[in-house]
Amino acid sequence: MAERYDVIVIGAGPAGYIAAIRAAQLGFKVACVEKWRNPAGERALGGTCLNVGCIPSKALLASSEEYEKALHHLGEHGIAVDGVSVDLGRMLGRKDQIVGKMTKGIEFLFRKNKIAWLQGHGRFAGSADGLWRIEVENEAGVELEEARNVIVATGSKARHLPGIPVDNRLICDNEGALAFDSIPKRLGVIGAGVIGLELGSVWRRLGAKVTVLEALPTFLAACDDAVARECRKIFTKQGLDIRLGVKIDEVRSGKKGVSVGWTDDQGAAQTLEVDRLIVSVGRVPNTEGLGLENVGLTTDERGFIEVDDQCRTKLPGVYAIGDVVRGPMLAHKGEDEGVMVAELIAGQKPHIDYNCIPWVVYTSPEIAWVGRTEQQLKADGVAYKAGQFPFAANGRALGMGLGEGFVKVLADARTDEILGVHIVSANASDLIAEAAVAMEFRASAEDIGRVCHPHPSLSEVVREAALAASDKRALNM
Ligand code: FAD
Ligand code: NAI
Repeated sequence: MAERYDVIVIGAGPAGYIAAIRAAQLGFKVACVEKWRNPAGERALGGTCLNVGCIPSKALLASSEEYEKALHHLGEHGIAVDGVSVDLGRMLGRKDQIVGKMTKGIEFLFRKNKIAWLQGHGRFAGSADGLWRIEVENEAGVELEEARNVIVATGSKARHLPGIPVDNRLICDNEGALAFDSIPKRLGVIGAGVIGLELGSVWRRLGAKVTVLEALPTFLAACDDAVARECRKIFTKQGLDIRLGVKIDEVRSGKKGVSVGWTDDQGAAQTLEVDRLIVSVGRVPNTEGLGLENVGLTTDERGFIEVDDQCRTKLPGVYAIGDVVRGPMLAHKGEDEGVMVAELIAGQKPHIDYNCIPWVVYTSPEIAWVGRTEQQLKADGVAYKAGQFPFAANGRALGMGLGEGFVKVLADARTDEILGVHIVSANASDLIAEAAVAMEFRASAEDIGRVCHPHPSLSEVVREAALAASDKRALNM
C-alpha cells in the first residue's frame, strides 16, 4: 500500500530541503526523496550546495586566504611569521567536517519538522484519482508513494565538454577540484566564470600557477563593466593568468598531466601543459530518469523544466524550483522558490522579485551585485545617475588592510529609485544585503544616504556611494 503525503519533494538541495521545511511548518505531511551519497558511501542531504558547492568551496576559500595572509600580509601589521606551510590533508579534513556538520544539520531539521526522508532515486510513475505517484528506488527495491503535490528540486550537474573526459583526478569538475590530493604546480581552468575564479583563486593562493582559458572575449560579462575591469586588474595582479576569446581545440591527459591545445584571440595555436585541469563551463539541469514522460512534463531547449513566474508546471499540483528551472543557479534563489511554492500550496500569495536576487563571487576581494548593470540600463534606454565611492577612502577598510574596490550605486535619474548596486570589496557578500533590502522596499539612493551607518565600517562606503548617486554629495570625497 502506497504511503500518502500532502507534499513530496524530489531532491534535498537548498531548494528542496527548504521547500520541505516550509511545507511542514505550514502543517503538511511531507516527504523528501534524496539519493546523494558522499565519498564515504553514506547517504547525505543538502545537495550540490552543501556537499560539493557553496559550503566546501567557501571553506577552502577561507583556508587559502588565511594562508595567503600569513605568507604575504601579516608583515604589513608588523607581525613576522616563519615557516608557514600548508597541511593540505588537514585543510581538506576541515572542509569535510564543515560539510558533515551542515548535512547532519539538515537531517536534524527533517526530524524536527517530521519530514520523511525517502532515500533513493525518485521518479514520476503516473497519476490516479488526483494523486501523483512517485517511485523511490534504492538497494532494497522500489516503493510507491503518493501525493497531491510534488515539488521537483533535482538541481543541476556540471556541464562537460565533448572530447574532454572528466575523471575527477587529472581533469576535474567542481567535485574533483574541491578535493585535489596535492597542490598542483600548474593548474589549467577552462571557463572564467564563478567556479573558475573561486577555485582558481583557492589553488593559486596555495601555490599553483593558474591559467584560465575563457571563450568569451569579455571578462565577467554578467557584471557591471566597471566591476569587471577592476576585477580583471586585481586578479591579474594576484597572479591569475586570464586569457579571453580562446577556443579549446584538444585536451589530452597522460602520466605527466594534461595538455590543452587552444587557439588564442589572434588565431594562433597554443599549448598549455598543466598538472591538473578544472572544467568549469556552466551547469546543466538534472532531469535524467525523473519519469517526466510518464506524466507529460516537458523541458525547454536547454533542458530546464518549464515553469511560470511562480514555479508552477503545466500539471496541477506539480511545481519545479531551484537549478532545474530558469533563472540564476544560486542557492538562495532556489531557497526562496522553495518557500514560495510551499506557501502557494497552502493558498497564500507569495511573490519573488527576481530583480532583487543578489549575486556574489567569493574571490578576494568579493564581487557582489543586485539589480541592473550600467550597460543594461543604457541598453534599456533608462535615464540613470551613477555614484561610486572607493574603499581606499574608508578608515575601517584601511585598518583591515582591505582598501581595494568600490561601491557603485545606480539610481533612476528622475525618481532616485535604486536600480542597481555593484560592490567589489572584502565582505561584499554581507554588504550587498543592505542594497537588496533597499531595492525590495523600492528605496531611493537618498534613503540609504540618510540612514545612519556605523563608523568605522565598510558599510559607510555603501552610504557614500548612495549619496554620490543621489545628488553628488558624498561626504568624505
Ligand atoms: P542541488 O543542490 O543540485 O540539489 C539537488 C538534489 O537533488 C541533489 O542532492 C540530488 O542528489 C537530488 N536528486 C536529483 N535527482 C534526483 C532524483 N531523481 N531522485 C532523488 N534525488 C535526486 N550558489 C550560491 O548561491 N552561492 C555559492 O557560493 C555557490 N557556490 C557554488 C560552488 C560550487 C563549486 C558549485 C558547483 C555551485 C555553487 N553554487 C552556489 C550553486 C548552488 O550550489 C546551486 O545553485 C544550488 O545547490 C541549487 O540548489 P538545488 O536545490 O536546486 O539543487
Ligand atoms: P559560469 O556560467 O559561471 O561560467 C562558465 C564560463 O565558462 C563562462 O564564462 C563561459 O563563457 C565559459 N565557457 C563556456 N564554454 C566554454 C568553452 N568551451 N571554453 C572556454 N570557456 C567556456 O559557470 P561555472 O563557473 O561552471 O559555475 C556554474 C554555476 O554554479 C554558476 O553559473 C553559478 O550559478 C553557480 N555558482 C555560484 C557561485 C556563487 O554564487 N558564488 C559559485 C560557484 C558556482
